[in-house]
Amino acid sequence: MADPRKLYIRTYGCQMNVYDSERMAEAMGGAGYVETDSPDDADMILLNTCHIREKAAEKVYSELGRFKDLKAARPDLKIGVAGCVAQAEGEEIMRRQPMVDLVVGPQSYHRLPEMEAKAGQGSKALDTDFPEEDKFARLKGRGKAKRGPTAFLTVQEGCDKFCAFCVVPYTRGAEVSRPVAQVLDEARDLVERGVREVTLLGQNVNAYHGDGPGGDWTLARLIRELAKLDGLDRIRFTTSHPNDMDDDLIAAHGDCDKLMPYLHLPVQSGSDRVLKRMARKHTAEQYIRLIERIRAARPDILISGDFIVGFPGETEDDFADTMALVEEVRYGQCYSFKYSARPGTPAAEREPVDPVVASDRLTRLQALLTRQQREVQDAMVGKEVGVLFERKGRLPGQMVGKSDHLHAVHVTGDVAVGDLARVRITESAPNSLAGALA
Ligand code: 5AD
Ligand code: SF4
Repeated sequence: MADPRKLYIRTYGCQMNVYDSERMAEAMGGAGYVETDSPDDADMILLNTCHIREKAAEKVYSELGRFKDLKAARPDLKIGVAGCVAQAEGEEIMRRQPMVDLVVGPQSYHRLPEMEAKAGQGSKALDTDFPEEDKFARLKGRGKAKRGPTAFLTVQEGCDKFCAFCVVPYTRGAEVSRPVAQVLDEARDLVERGVREVTLLGQNVNAYHGDGPGGDWTLARLIRELAKLDGLDRIRFTTSHPNDMDDDLIAAHGDCDKLMPYLHLPVQSGSDRVLKRMARKHTAEQYIRLIERIRAARPDILISGDFIVGFPGETEDDFADTMALVEEVRYGQCYSFKYSARPGTPAAEREPVDPVVASDRLTRLQALLTRQQREVQDAMVGKEVGVLFERKGRLPGQMVGKSDHLHAVHVTGDVAVGDLARVRITESAPNSLAGALA
């Protein structure tokens, strides 16, 4: 038998891209490819791209430029672009980088093996359709290979919210939820393969409305059902929109033991004026009240968020409102970005904020967020938490895992990858905790 061909995938952007890359690798496994971790000996290079900010999108072109020499030396090497840049700029990629053999959008990657075969015959392939068929149903099963203890599981894709800055509704399309049975099957399969923690993914995951027994299921109902699976010990979900946090999902944080005390709930800005211009359809006050209700259900929950500074029209007063909201919420973890105008979105037409001003605001916001993150971490010292061990650490005998609150925890002791143990936290470092087995 011929040696398998080698596939090198580089993944940018969000967790859903990580999940998609796994699924594409599996689909290509069926076409005789195995994954390699170096582009140098690959027969095919696939970039799974992100379009959310300009910097991320431009990276694709510089990255492709670096593969030029490889392609010149080995004309049989196939180069593909997948993900959201593929969706948004398919034709332009082919034009700017003629060495690209195939371009596949996030909704058509189940067709990747066919496209690869076509590219093998010397023709280019481009597929950025939003096909009728369900790509998940078309994708081959995941095989029975052993997995690490944690996995992503996409349950929902796309977004109907159309925030004024965001390309997601255009690149990922309208909201679609996977049927309950399909999700449960995939979760069972993951558990059989060694997974103890799943993170349910969706661009707007708490807007999940999947077909299930008796009709439409909400995310909370899906979580409660998943919690019945023996061997599945932890459930997380991301990313959520404040307007889709229904009562049952809030309650689940209090009464579903397997649902971890961590919630990523982006607000983007603390100014009502900016929120309105962003078309977020909620106020700062409503968000703060919502956090209070979630904390009433689960007092130790760690709240995480996303912020954009320098959105068109943002004044110093607006920014002060964002800082005030952060002070009030007390985040355990946050991502913050300078606004980036994205082609085709409503905000891209508006007068931008001076980039120097925006950078200065980002620095101030990040200083506050970093301080909060450290305070929340420091407050864990002396507490006992559950830790799921994921890998060996750098020091002899050291193991690294994630706490219930998603903090990285270093422990030296008799534990193996995949163990879930109680740990007493003894130290807080800038981006991790250390502890001892309890
Ligand atoms: N500019 C800057 N940040 C953005 N995000 C989304 N679109 C933009 C943009 N145009 C951020 C938001 C979102 C996160 C995934 O990326 O904060 O929640
Ligand atoms: Fe983008 Fe999230 Fe707004 Fe949807 S809800 S448009 S994914 S920022």
